[in-house]
Amino acid sequence: MHIETAISLRDCNTFGLPATAATLVRITSEADVRQVVNHPELGPAPKFILGGGSNVVFTRDVTACLLKVEITGLRVVEERADAVIVEAGAGVRWHDLVAWTLGQGLPGLENLALIPGTVGAAPVQNIGAYGLELADRFDSLDAVDLISGRSVTLDRARCRFGYRDSVFKRELAGKSLITRVRLRLPRPWQPVLEYLDLQRKCEEAGFIEGRLPGARQVFDWVCEIRRAKLPDPAVIGNAGSFFKNPVVSLEQCRDIIARDPHLVHYPMDDGQFKLAAGWLIDACGWKGKSVGAAAVYEKQALVLVNRGGASGGEVMTLARAIQESVYGRFGIRLEPEPIVV
Ligand code: EPU
Repeated sequence: MHIETAISLRDCNTFGLPATAATLVRITSEADVRQVVNHPELGPAPKFILGGGSNVVFTRDVTACLLKVEITGLRVVEERADAVIVEAGAGVRWHDLVAWTLGQGLPGLENLALIPGTVGAAPVQNIGAYGLELADRFDSLDAVDLISGRSVTLDRARCRFGYRDSVFKRELAGKSLITRVRLRLPRPWQPVLEYLDLQRKCEEAGFIEGRLPGARQVFDWVCEIRRAKLPDPAVIGNAGSFFKNPVVSLEQCRDIIARDPHLVHYPMDDGQFKLAAGWLIDACGWKGKSVGAAAVYEKQALVLVNRGGASGGEVMTLARAIQESVYGRFGIRLEPEPIVV
């Protein structure tokens, strides 16, 4: 096990924010995790787990022992009549897993193409896009308990997935390190095309009257839509959506629509409504506004970007100003989506 000290994290977070880790350990196997747990100094120290750094805002240096997950490996575990189970190491880039499954002729993850970050981080916030969530394709995962060093396997129920939420953001935050994730790809495959942007693509390409696009086509569309709307972190620092889409009651939704008829809202199964936070922020006039080098992306108000040299403090000052203005106009408290350190 190699312990690194005083490491810059600027290249380890997609926002490109400055911070250092007092202690960093690269985790390439379960054995590495156990070595950390049994280490006389690192064992009892608080831990911070980092994957691709695509969902974190560093506002200060990390004093906890930072475990950078770099476990590799991709394999088909089981082929059943109703599903194929694939497994990926937690350090594999999520998009590489999606592309690999398609290359193997195993569709099912195409709606989740191009999501930045690693496989191990995907269950933490239950990544989702274009009508599909990780939870819809999740089979199970392996993790190591950071106190006992014991390996555990968690099924879907034990992960307690919610909208951009799981047990790893709550009770198990910093206590359990995900090492491998297994996905269940249902057979026969059926495209997921309910999302408005995908329906538009279907119409434009002439997929009508029961003629359905293939998985590779859906993958290409999702990549196109994302590239048009979302900034590439390799070009301009960002952490994807900065706020969660808020959920409100029917009464609250009606009340807002009475004043703002164009409110973008989606009915949910439980009778509540999910509102498009991007629309709320846009309606308050935030697109393109900035605090220092932190700015609201011009093409998608839900994304905050680093125009070059921003600090985590600037990002959070901008975020708080947005929260206040949305609360002032709509009475809704926006909740940040990334983990703020
Ligand atoms: N909108 C505006 N102005 C804006 C932004 C959005 O009016 O500046 C409106 C759009 O016109 C659209 C609606 O808001 O009618 C929703 O926008 P979009 O389809 O872009 O999706 P979103 O709700 O902003 C969510 C996820 C994204 C995911 C997309 C596609 C959250 C917090 N975000 O965004 O996830 O890619 O749906 O499924 O749920 C992420 O989590 O980092 C992420 C990018």
